[in-house]
Amino acid sequence: MERIESVAQMQRHCLEARAGGRRIALVPTMGCLHEGHLSLLREGRRRGDLLVLSLFVNPTQFGAGEDLDRYPRDLAGDSEQARRVGVDVLFAPSVSQMYPSGYASYVNVEGLTEVLCGANRPGHFRGVTTVVCKLFTIVQPHVALFGLKDFQQLAVIQRMTADLNLPVEIVGLPIVREADGLAMSSRNSYLSPAERRQAVSLSDAIALARGAVAGGETRPDALLQMVRRRIETEPDAVIDYVRICDAGNLQDVPYVDRKAVLLLAVHMGKTRLIDNSYLFEEDCLS
Ligand code: PAJ
Repeated sequence: MERIESVAQMQRHCLEARAGGRRIALVPTMGCLHEGHLSLLREGRRRGDLLVLSLFVNPTQFGAGEDLDRYPRDLAGDSEQARRVGVDVLFAPSVSQMYPSGYASYVNVEGLTEVLCGANRPGHFRGVTTVVCKLFTIVQPHVALFGLKDFQQLAVIQRMTADLNLPVEIVGLPIVREADGLAMSSRNSYLSPAERRQAVSLSDAIALARGAVAGGETRPDALLQMVRRRIETEPDAVIDYVRICDAGNLQDVPYVDRKAVLLLAVHMGKTRLIDNSYLFEEDCLS
């Protein structure tokens, strides 16, 4: 496995690989790898012959007062996991490589970014789309893999890729969960033991809603009330949002059908957790 820190070198490497007829697969991450990331890498390994893992804690997607400084970092552990899963190139640029002094260009997707996580994290998705667009032009992947864990992020990236005619196939993969149902996340390491126990309320609430839909309930209000009640039983949980949206446009749906996805964001103590699921059994993605 090769480790590259320079943008110019990474771009050169990928241009040569493309010229040599190799199919490039990219998995963008902020590191501190867990099974969710590894599932993307394994699929990337199957879909490409040059597998690139980018590891960059992207400052432009963190708001003032968010966890940029304390975001977990473990380059040595990540390198070892990446090597084991068959990554060819680990791209780990510095902030000044990605955003040199004088940097002034941003990519903004309208509409999809103002709701849900975008409502309380202004500028977050602008940072995500900017860095992902840059990674696409640096690595020039044929295929890029993302997790459905960040459902809105995936929708925004798909929109950007289509709108800007970026020649990249976007693949979304199911949420990987802990044994008790908690969606894996680098931020789970922030949780105290008590918060970790309460964090299962997100996936529990999703299971309740899915059960009700399987039993015939299609009214979003009834389902949302059920979800809220379950989460509010936990003393350290404060709901940011709980919504049932159309997977395509992320707008609230009047009734639940196959396109309906339940999305939640909950503060557990100081840690913000997100989770989501389609509501119909046949669409079980996670
Ligand atoms: P990060 O949170 O490190 O996640 C990297 C990728 O792993 C994302 O596509 C995310 O959806 C996926 N992922 C995280 N947890 C997962 C889980 N439990 N199951 C399946 N996939 C999971 O998302 C980002 O980084 C950044 O915003 C990034 C896209 C890299 C841009 O900076």
